[in-house]
Amino acid sequence: MSKKYLITTFGCQMNEHDSEKLAGMLENMGYSEGETLETSDIIVLNTCSVRENADLSFFGKLGYLKNLKKNHPDLTISVCGCMMQQPHIVETVKKKYPFVDIVFGTHNLHEFPQMLIESLSNRELSVHVWNEEGDIVEDLPVKRKLETKAFITIMYGCNNFCTYCIVPFTRGRERSRKPEDIIREITELAQNGTKEIMLLGQNVNSYGKTLENRMDFADLLYQINEIKYLERIRFMTSHPKDLSEKLIKAFGACEKVCNHIHLPVQSGSNRILKLMNRQYTKEHYLQLIEKLRMVDKNIAISTDIIVGFPGETEEDFAETLDLVKKVRYDSAFTFLYSPRKGTPAEKYEDIIDEDIKHKRFNQLLKTLNDITQEKNLLYEGEMVDVLIEGKSKTDETKLSGRTTTNKLVNFKSNSKEGKIVPVRITKARTFSLEGEAIEN
Ligand code: 5AD
Ligand code: SF4
Repeated sequence: MSKKYLITTFGCQMNEHDSEKLAGMLENMGYSEGETLETSDIIVLNTCSVRENADLSFFGKLGYLKNLKKNHPDLTISVCGCMMQQPHIVETVKKKYPFVDIVFGTHNLHEFPQMLIESLSNRELSVHVWNEEGDIVEDLPVKRKLETKAFITIMYGCNNFCTYCIVPFTRGRERSRKPEDIIREITELAQNGTKEIMLLGQNVNSYGKTLENRMDFADLLYQINEIKYLERIRFMTSHPKDLSEKLIKAFGACEKVCNHIHLPVQSGSNRILKLMNRQYTKEHYLQLIEKLRMVDKNIAISTDIIVGFPGETEEDFAETLDLVKKVRYDSAFTFLYSPRKGTPAEKYEDIIDEDIKHKRFNQLLKTLNDITQEKNLLYEGEMVDVLIEGKSKTDETKLSGRTTTNKLVNFKSNSKEGKIVPVRITKARTFSLEGEAIEN
């Protein structure tokens, strides 16, 4: 029987996709995916450092693994991802969690098989963390979680240095994959049944700046739009400062690009946006929304918002609420500001009281949810095309999938995962829609 591995992933879709690559490498080495931590031989924790609660859940999990390793000394424990790019975290792991076997950073992912072989032979803690990014490594094996909907990284790193954000420190400088490598990967996937792809990057809108043959994200979208058998193109994340006229036009012109954009705004106050180093104003952002709605009046818009950034006054927060009401988001991720070691904002004074932060957070959530619910109600009685992703998480007898506007739909159907089916929406909920498939 083959040895088992289990990967626990914290954080964003970039991390999810890195874990798919780790799984691919492990399967190539003859391991197979295990079901529980207790029955696995290799455990990998792929970490996130974007907010403090992600750090805490990682250390909580490591605490649990300590006991597991006592009863199972052959177990190999590897920790990787964004947290390992922070020297103080690696020090903590070495000091407090010496039972860990392998520590590696985001730039060393491709070296995992070699590290594992070495660790299995010498059983000593090995640490592999490059401070700087190396060349992009192509053709790593990938074991995808979903075949119908595939993640494709198009660029790595970020040059923006938003003052609250750790990502430029953990993922390094911006660098883009060559378009021919991206097109080849997607073409192969589409030929093998993948219907939807999600292009990933910290700021996909600045794709191409590091390429020898300069091209931009809009050019890339036009090329991907031509790929045979592919039906849907999504991408995230877009930075408002780099959302060009050309890209907005491509949005309207490429029929495979889904009617949804995730456009993080972070705050509606120009003063706070400046302190965050976001490089746009509320007015500019609202103009972008207007332009997007001009090329696609049904476009769904989602965002990220941080509440309680240092110095945020009641007036600043009121500006955020005002922006939310003007844009009328389809959905939003909301975050309590969390200071990150080494970022400029960590040193900012005028910290917001926790109670005030929570009060604002709840008020924002209520405003957002009311709008989401109202927007979802407009779907009742409408026909939508849904790409089936699998069984519904809330009701085993139903399937679930998404509309091109990224709405989650639960419905009864005899169709299979990967099919796009017409569904009539019968009921709107706050975070999902109920429907019935129109089978033929
Ligand atoms: N505190 C709170 N939220 C943060 N984000 C990034 N860094 C922080 C932080 N220090 C949020 C931003 C970003 C999303 C991925 O996480 O909203 O868009
Ligand atoms: Fe972080 Fe800003 Fe880069 Fe996004 S654009 S990853 S928020 S620094």
